[in-house]
Amino acid sequence: MRSFKVLTFGCQMNERDSEMISGVLAAEGFYKTEDEEEADLILLNTCSIREKAEQKFYSEVGRLKKLKEKKPSLIIAVSGCIAQQEGEKVLRRAPHVDIVFGNQNTRELPGMLKARNGGKTAMTVFPADYQHASLPAHRENSLNAFVNIMYGCDNFCSYCVVPFVRGREKSRRPGDIVDEVSRLARGGLREVTLLGQNVNSYGRGLDEGGGTGFPKLLQMLDAVEGVERIRFVTSHPKDLSDELISAMAALPKVCESIHLPMQSASDRILASMNRRYTFSEYMEKLTKLKEAMPDITLSTDIIVGFPGETEADYQETITALADIRYDGIFSFKYSKRPNTKALSLPGHIPEEVKAARLDHVISMQNAITLEKNIARVGKVEEVLVEGPDKSGSGDRMSGKSRGGKIVNFCGSLSLVGSMVKVRITEGKKHSLSGSLYNGDLDCKKL
Ligand code: 5AD
Ligand code: SF4
Repeated sequence: MRSFKVLTFGCQMNERDSEMISGVLAAEGFYKTEDEEEADLILLNTCSIREKAEQKFYSEVGRLKKLKEKKPSLIIAVSGCIAQQEGEKVLRRAPHVDIVFGNQNTRELPGMLKARNGGKTAMTVFPADYQHASLPAHRENSLNAFVNIMYGCDNFCSYCVVPFVRGREKSRRPGDIVDEVSRLARGGLREVTLLGQNVNSYGRGLDEGGGTGFPKLLQMLDAVEGVERIRFVTSHPKDLSDELISAMAALPKVCESIHLPMQSASDRILASMNRRYTFSEYMEKLTKLKEAMPDITLSTDIIVGFPGETEADYQETITALADIRYDGIFSFKYSKRPNTKALSLPGHIPEEVKAARLDHVISMQNAITLEKNIARVGKVEEVLVEGPDKSGSGDRMSGKSRGGKIVNFCGSLSLVGSMVKVRITEGKKHSLSGSLYNGDLDCKKL
């Protein structure tokens, strides 16, 4: 039997794809190892959303060159968004790579392994009949799982490479999704995170399923026995409907938490990004979400230094962040991506200006996140216990609140997989601490 190791970069979509790749390799008789020296096949599942991710990949693959020299039989394969974007170019830039395959070519991997005959091979097509669901399942975790509800993106935000590397938007059939979630629930799943580049447009173009939109899909999944929590990423603000807000508030299993990428608060920049909403439209949706679910946790994505962003545009974003007070944000310096419209826009911003803007956004948000976490002290959170906390002491467990925050508390391993109530005693930058509510466990460290 041969062994493999997967290195995953980037988003949850990639993590899920790595599970698929592992499933396909296991079906071919490979077993998984964490030891690079032992592995017969090392696979890098890559991200190309920003230049930094690409640089990280080339440095990782460079590191493997020595290993390949020591062990020429080692097969190095590259998948994911860099593979999709660069195709054969990866083989030229990193000649020790053997196989390159795109985001929708996982099912071709066994054939590529067999047919290559010691040679190099690359495949990056988008098959017309693409359906992930037919691939062998492999899951890292039985308690919570990512489930794709759609692939690709049709939005063409002007900075974004995703539509080029993930292809056109395509929804999975609702029946297939419900079947997959039901099967996972029978295997012990408690929490499901639905994945799509723009979940709010789920169902568009589906010829089967009787016009099932995202709110209807949530309703169907809420009825699956055994599932206790439903989350989803990512929502595009332009497609966030009143119907979805009502469904989120009404369905007991759908968590009161949303990641709603704003990107910028300047209408001029939003238009240039092709986001198709104005800042006030965005705010209107946030207000409705908060009215429907007062305890909702909010997060967002911000890009600073987009071409043409003036100091005044940037200040609008700063003011918005100070007013909205998200629980957490992901913030990035604008990064030039191949094929995208923003590349040819005038007014690219100098690196130092982008870096200074980003630093300020991060430090300002860090303070807000901490304040928001401290504000939870005294509240009782429902926590799905995932395992021991990072301290390794063994008597502290860790899990997530409905709002998606990490909660650490004193408890035993027997609680893993159960839903407990924790009274919050401390808010930190990245987590909350507390003690079991109604419990009689004593923890000296608390
Ligand atoms: N530069 C910087 N950030 C980007 N993102 C996407 N493309 C770029 C880019 N070219 C960010 C957006 C998106 C998140 C996943 O990554 O904020 O929401
Ligand atoms: Fe990229 Fe925009 Fe699609 Fe998100 S919605 S993946 S930012 S093109």
